[in-house]
Amino acid sequence: MKIEIKGLTKIYKNGKTALKDVNLTITNGMFGLLGPNGAGKTTLMRILVTLLNPTYGKVMIDGYDLLKNRKQIRSMLGYLPQDFNTFPKVRVWEFLDYNARLAGLKNHSTRMTKIDELLEKVGLFDVRDRMANKLSGGMKRRLGIAQALIGDPKLLIVDEPTTGLDPEERIRFRGMLTEMSREDRIIILSTHIVGAISSSCNDMAVIVNGEVGFNDAPEKLIEKARGHTFSMVADDYELERIKEQYAVISTVPVEEGWRVEVVSNSMIGTEIEPNLEHAYVHFITDYAGEYADVL
Ligand SMILES: Nc1ncnc2c1ncn2[C@@H]1O[C@H](COP(=O)(O)OP(=O)(O)O)[C@@H](O)[C@H]1O
Ligand SMILES: [Mg+2]
Repeated sequence: MKIEIKGLTKIYKNGKTALKDVNLTITNGMFGLLGPNGAGKTTLMRILVTLLNPTYGKVMIDGYDLLKNRKQIRSMLGYLPQDFNTFPKVRVWEFLDYNARLAGLKNHSTRMTKIDELLEKVGLFDVRDRMANKLSGGMKRRLGIAQALIGDPKLLIVDEPTTGLDPEERIRFRGMLTEMSREDRIIILSTHIVGAISSSCNDMAVIVNGEVGFNDAPEKLIEKARGHTFSMVADDYELERIKEQYAVISTVPVEEGWRVEVVSNSMIGTEIEPNLEHAYVHFITDYAGEYADVL
């Protein structure tokens, strides 16, 4: 499985350029697409799932041309849209049954087996008879992933799956995605939340203002931030000054005031080992100059 994106540009009818000459090659495994709100992630996802046409450029998925072989491409796709919702008066299992039929599963008992298996997998078996639109946010997202997996897709695209979920649900969702990774499958996870890009992403891209600013392994992004992340203790007054001057990653209350972690190009406080969150902020501030604009 391989996706090749070449010179992809999307200009919306109102003149807004949402993607500018995007070039990416995505291979098997979990691919993280990270970027601030408005960066162009959803636009890219919608193009990949054939819901939106590119203005320029070419996309090849598993040897098929996105513009010429829509049918073949759709048959290998699973998609959890950012604004995923169910419809009223439909039970959880019925919603999946509806999607299973859309995915071409004709045999009734095959469908029922598959549905129960998926419900089990995403932890919704116990609520299979509940009304789908009455589920909690986290459960609805899990139903969304079950819906996306029903056709056993080789390409699974999930757009901001953890937005609005509590930390526990987020961790659970991340674990679920990791479980769904397998040798011949690509999972593309788009998010503006760094924590959602787990260490299980073998490859990632950062997209800012419609452009791919970084495309490599997460560790490579972390490498760039080494020597630029610091920790210090500050009182209330100092904390305000620090916030004005540096990109603050975290503040934790301690006896003397606050333990503050910042990303900076000049040495302040004690140097610490960066994590992906530091690395992302460092990258964005460097890339965009003014971090306040995009973060
Ligand atoms: N249908 C549309 N028409 C015009 N502009 C749009 C449309 N959809 C999105 N945009 C704009 O394109 C840019 C990228 O949006 P989007 O792809 O949704 O970004 P992201 O998913 O990274 O938040 C934003 O500036 C957004 O306002
Ligand atoms: Mg989006």
